[in-house]
Amino acid sequence: MKGKFITFEGIDGSGKSTQLRLLASYLVERGKDVLTTREPGGTPLGRRLREAFLETEETVSPLAELLLFAADRAQHVEFLIKPAVAEGRVVISDRYADATAAYQGAGRGFKRETVARIIQLATGGLKPDLTLFFDIPVELAIARTGSRNNSEAGANRMDGESAEFYARVRDEYLAIARSDPRRFKVIDGAGSIEDIHSKVTEIVSRRFR
Ligand code: TMP
Repeated sequence: MKGKFITFEGIDGSGKSTQLRLLASYLVERGKDVLTTREPGGTPLGRRLREAFLETEETVSPLAELLLFAADRAQHVEFLIKPAVAEGRVVISDRYADATAAYQGAGRGFKRETVARIIQLATGGLKPDLTLFFDIPVELAIARTGSRNNSEAGANRMDGESAEFYARVRDEYLAIARSDPRRFKVIDGAGSIEDIHSKVTEIVSRRFR
């Protein structure tokens, strides 16, 4: 297993970031050279963008948002993901292009073709080898992000979206799973952390045996 690109997706509060840390430790313990990263914010420029357009209370236009996620991704692909995969590292990113299809496409209402063109431009066509989608009911997502908002830790501008918004986002992720079942795996995110972790390692081991 060398030079792989794995992405984690889920609606907010799905537990994907916890699972990402667990998978990274699991692979490191087995001698893999792992690089964990995230979108937005995987590069120094991306971190500044994230703060400017995501961790802000300023109203951000949907088009600006779409283009800023793409700008973050272009920098991330060119200076972090591609070089690390070329060196034979296992790159695991907390979100990538599917998030734009789901959030800006289905969530904000941009046309599929528009979003696909912008993703193609930003990534140069780089696709993950494997994507794990942690699926939880929308009500659970709202309950979890609500308590995150109150505690401030990890809160961002998207946490205040409606149940309808999250339902559209979730449905789009599930549509991607149906259209690209080999790459995009759905994992029930409502179980215990340990059970979900076992499922993750099983899928990753099977795919990259
Ligand atoms: P997170 O780092 O907590 O997952 O937060 C990132 C937020 O940004 C989350 O609400 C999903 C959203 N997002 C998009 O709307 N489009 C994107 O392309 C990406 C990468 C994230």
